[in-house]
Amino acid sequence: MASSKNGTLKGKPEIGIVIKDDYAGYPLNMFCVPKHYEADLTDIMIPAGLINDRIERIARDIVQDIIPQENRGIVVLCVLKGGYKFFADLLDKIKQLNRNSEESIPISIDFIRLQSYKNDKSQGSIQVIGGDRLENLKGKCVLVVEDIIDTGGTMIKLKELLAKHEPKCVKVASLLVKRSARNCGYKPDFTGFEIPDEFVVGYALDYNEHFRDLSHICVINENGKKKYAVAS
Ligand code: HPA
Ligand code: MG
Repeated sequence: MASSKNGTLKGKPEIGIVIKDDYAGYPLNMFCVPKHYEADLTDIMIPAGLINDRIERIARDIVQDIIPQENRGIVVLCVLKGGYKFFADLLDKIKQLNRNSEESIPISIDFIRLQSYKNDKSQGSIQVIGGDRLENLKGKCVLVVEDIIDTGGTMIKLKELLAKHEPKCVKVASLLVKRSARNCGYKPDFTGFEIPDEFVVGYALDYNEHFRDLSHICVINENGKKKYAVAS
């Protein structure tokens, strides 16, 4: 079951809500799942409502952390495509807090598109395959919004890339962090959930571009992996 007590990442303090390795998830028939995906999923790991409630709190943590340090505004940088749902929902909640606060900050948005996964395997190197000009980030405080940290390698390379464009600061919010032996120990500034080492889809996370239209975060099964596999 979800816990906030154990399951740390390489001895680091717990981050986000920790979903333990023995967590069974929710049966698919307890929530609404599109018919075309029913045979491709093991279980629902995080229902959409819980994702929403966790994001509300992350938004509050971000605003409380950033506003006192940065009153000239922030750039919220969405890592496409997987990060788009988290980005949209998080930004809505940050804006809501910002417009109801005595101390508000200007917020602008930017997008970057990276690709590093084929099937369920990282390809090792990241490629920037689209997005805005990173020169715009010079001197700005940047909040990177990512769907998942798995090995941590993509985020380390992205931070190196961003640093070349001399932002004033870079903070990272990731909805999920996978607890895996492959993780290089990278830890984002804000995390939604720390999850077991399973390939998850839904809420914009994909498997070869499939499952982005699934609302809940679910575990893909072998049938789904085979059905939507591409030649590597
Ligand atoms: N799901 C989707 N995309 C990913 C994952 C995952 O579990 N890990 C790294 N990229
Ligand atoms: Mg991603």
